Amino acid sequence: YMNYRVPRTRKEIFETLIKGLQRLEYRGYDSAGVAIDGNNHEVKERHIQLVKKRGKVKALDEELYKFVVIHNGIITNYKDLRKFLESKGYEFESETDTETIAKLIKYVFDNRETEDITFSTLVERVIQQLEGAFALVFKSIHYPGEAVATRRGSPLLIGVRSKYKLSTEQIPILYRSCTIENAKSTCKARTRRLDSSTCLHAVGDKAVEFFFASDASAIIEHTNRVIFLEDDDIAAVADGKLSIHRVKRSASDDPSRAIQTLQMELQQIMKGNFSAFMQKEIFEQPESVFNTMRGRVNFETNTVLLGGLKDHLKEIRRCRRLIVIGCGTSYHAAVATRQVLEELTELPVMVELASDFLDRNTPVFRDDVCFFISQSGETADTLLALRYCKDRRALTVGVTNTVGSSISRETDCGVHINAGPEIGVASTKAYTSQFISLVMFGLMMSEDRISLQSRRQEIIRGLRALPELIKEVLSLDEKIHDLALELYTQRSLLVMGRGYNYATCLEGALKIKEITYMHSEGILAGELKHGPLALIDKQMPVIMLIMKDPCFAKCQNALQQVTARQGRPIILCSRDDTESSKFAYKTIELPHTVDCLQGILSVIPLQLLSFHLAVLRGYDVDFPRNLAKSVTVE
Ligand code: F6R
Repeated sequence: YMNYRVPRTRKEIFETLIKGLQRLEYRGYDSAGVAIDGNNHEVKERHIQLVKKRGKVKALDEELYKFVVIHNGIITNYKDLRKFLESKGYEFESETDTETIAKLIKYVFDNRETEDITFSTLVERVIQQLEGAFALVFKSIHYPGEAVATRRGSPLLIGVRSKYKLSTEQIPILYRSCTIENAKSTCKARTRRLDSSTCLHAVGDKAVEFFFASDASAIIEHTNRVIFLEDDDIAAVADGKLSIHRVKRSASDDPSRAIQTLQMELQQIMKGNFSAFMQKEIFEQPESVFNTMRGRVNFETNTVLLGGLKDHLKEIRRCRRLIVIGCGTSYHAAVATRQVLEELTELPVMVELASDFLDRNTPVFRDDVCFFISQSGETADTLLALRYCKDRRALTVGVTNTVGSSISRETDCGVHINAGPEIGVASTKAYTSQFISLVMFGLMMSEDRISLQSRRQEIIRGLRALPELIKEVLSLDEKIHDLALELYTQRSLLVMGRGYNYATCLEGALKIKEITYMHSEGILAGELKHGPLALIDKQMPVIMLIMKDPCFAKCQNALQQVTARQGRPIILCSRDDTESSKFAYKTIELPHTVDCLQGILSVIPLQLLSFHLAVLRGYDVDFPRNLAKSVTVE
């Protein structure tokens, strides 16, 4: 956060930074730290105060360094760098990869050829040595009042706040003409001169404040105007002016970075009356699914228009196959919609976990269309899979919830799911909005297919009714809480189903394991006899999803298998299903919708159940251990 001529006390600056960090705690919280320049008097004395601490933000501690670096990501070659630096006499105080960066910049500084080397040149040389994923912000007592930020693979944005008109809305990139290989020899002679046209500042040299953050939620209460940095951009703030550099220009480079205005509201990232973000987000689903469809589905004409895809529709219709790629919950949204996509697009659809897709070096061709599903738009495996497919010239489509995210920027086209910011680490409303986005894509693809019209109309009618039906499911909360009271001391929980509801089983089990730490497994009912049946006895709790869809009879069969082994199934079924409830230990009755949309309703009781189980077991629902919201490393 860089502030020029805006009178702020040290306390205010600390509060701004701490609040921003607290807003980011949902992304992970191994450690936290802040570093600030001294006051004007102290700046002359070249003093930077660094406060950092392991664990949550509130537990910050004090310490002082010369070069200060804030790092989000992972440096994969830090051991080699550390060995090199140790051989040069640099001493290390921790085992972290981050400390290597601070020591490396110190080394580059200590070995500089000229006294007047710029801060951004130092950073440029440092990142040439780094491998892995990182977003970095540097400060140094040697460059008082300056900060330099850069990224590769991890997100980084700059918030801009000023009461005055800004000098530009597009910041032109400054290119150094030297290459990475000869950086050392030529860069020193080419310290670029900055003039007003190459910098962003407030007109008339008035006050401007800059905020560096990996996520807009950290700064949204201060400004909604942001610049998203690209990989290897080096952004330098000095004397109230922001400039952006790159080492070398490539043909595909955009020669400037725009200031964008975010639509996010502060209230969207507050908990309100709920006890956890996850709970708030579960209850937001009537509105979030509506927002996903808003302006896209025309219920009068039975048409769907996804603006981000319309120019590519012809190409998509001609493709060889669709490959839908994601991780965790986002992958489950692909599993949930595979069948309806196959039906509506009449194309082969592969669904892939990003990590496995890459491990297999999956063949991809230029007439494939590859979808990348990601709430954050920053998941490393999904991003790497995207780059893999781009290299093979496939058309790439992003389905994300984060404007300006790496996946939304790097794909050829895409759909924004418009679910609103999701803060709870366990994904809930993003799943239902991803689900609907993919269904809308299928509907758009099938607009001209005469044979599919009545099916399309049925699905569009189903979409229209969803927000109200979701409200009905949410009204079961108390009943689900009572069920959680019976189950919360158990060690394991199986979730079984098939067809359209198999994805619900996977997703429900993931929710349960990630926030309650109970063992939970999503089981395809068709596989029951091939192994999982051995787990069934009167102790093992089993949740069975039995809906009035083409798999109903097969699910009844699975139910017989379970009850024949003294299993006591908790059944999620349609309201009018009198058959299944006869065999149930407990039933949760859900409103009925079109078969291919039923998964949107059936997942909600499992989201609620996992929430109540976690609370009853005494866990912090929004901060599950060992997990982070954006997984920006492989
Ligand atoms: C589970 C969960 C994760 C994410 C996964 C992908 O509740 O949140 O499984 O779904 O890490 O994240 P995105 O969607 O941001 O790519």
